[in-house]
Amino acid sequence: MSHIPIDKGGPLTPHQDLHSEQGPLRGEHPGRARNPVIKVADLAWLEFEKPDLDRAEVFARDFGFAIAARTEHELWLRGTFAGSPCMVIRRGHASRFLGPAFRAAERTDVDRLAAAVGNTVRDIDVPGGGRSVALFDPSGLPVRVVHCAEPLPALPGQQPLVLNTGIEGRRTNTTQRPPREPSRIQRLGHVVLETRTFTHTLDWYLDTLGMIVSDFLFLDGQRRRGPTMAFIRCDQGSTPVDHHTLALHLGPGTGYVHSAYQVTDLDAIAAGGEYLAERGYRRSWGIGRHIQGSQLFDYWRDPDRFMLEHFADGDLFSCDLEPGWAPMSASGLAQWGPPVTRDFLGASPSPSKLREVMRALRDDNELDPARLLGLMKAMSS
Ligand SMILES: [Fe+2]
Repeated sequence: MSHIPIDKGGPLTPHQDLHSEQGPLRGEHPGRARNPVIKVADLAWLEFEKPDLDRAEVFARDFGFAIAARTEHELWLRGTFAGSPCMVIRRGHASRFLGPAFRAAERTDVDRLAAAVGNTVRDIDVPGGGRSVALFDPSGLPVRVVHCAEPLPALPGQQPLVLNTGIEGRRTNTTQRPPREPSRIQRLGHVVLETRTFTHTLDWYLDTLGMIVSDFLFLDGQRRRGPTMAFIRCDQGSTPVDHHTLALHLGPGTGYVHSAYQVTDLDAIAAGGEYLAERGYRRSWGIGRHIQGSQLFDYWRDPDRFMLEHFADGDLFSCDLEPGWAPMSASGLAQWGPPVTRDFLGASPSPSKLREVMRALRDDNELDPARLLGLMKAMSS
């Protein structure tokens, strides 16, 4: 049984039966810090650099983003929900991920964090204005914590379909005709990052940003060496939040793996996927339903090979649940769906990938031959 409520006197929650890995063993990572500097409320947006903003905008519209602002040098993308934009793409020489920006719960949290790390707070050029403090996580990835002065107002959204379930006829005398159009993105859900310094980097997000772990994965036969992946949520007390806003895993690389954007329901994922396929975009993996987080998922590659996910119906957890523990395996990534692809796993060998692995094994970090072998075994089991 996993995710035992922190308050052991409370009743069992329904999801304990649906998600049946073990909880922690004595002395294992508790998955949260006792006294974090602040507690971020959510991911705000992700920052990218790309040479061709026109091409980026075409994909963004096809994938289902709305345009929050566009200049010669910047493209701000958003979903239909009120709040901050969910992505900024700046014109640059290379196509690369710059880093995530997390949303501070309070304006004063930005000041508190800046004081704690000895940085200055700066105004940022986000639509609506805001303030930011710039940090680096232990992987060397730039991380911002931001507070937006004026959240963007909501846009008209895509309505979920009215479904006849067999026991309840909610739709009578009318047909079901989901339009084949881009799924309309509602909001940014999560980002997944790879790191060679997993434990160190995980602890930084817990200690500095007050995030808490929903699920740990460990390498089969190496549990005593600690976890190698964590699904991490924001701590908003009794308010339920996404099962993961950030996921970190040990690997030879550093940085972006994928990011996920919520759409309204399964038909929005499927019809939006047909729309993308018709335009020649490449599906990486989907459609299926995950185990950790339970999301309905569909993964796509943008024209620069960045992986982006449409998701719907993810788990929402309050702060009251302890982390679950499970062995890492490719077959454990989904409850149903097509077999996981090599593209999704990043398992296609290439000279640059091989160089990355060799460098990671040579340098001082948490990856060693036993763990690399464990990761390779997990990806094929
Ligand atoms: Fe995901």
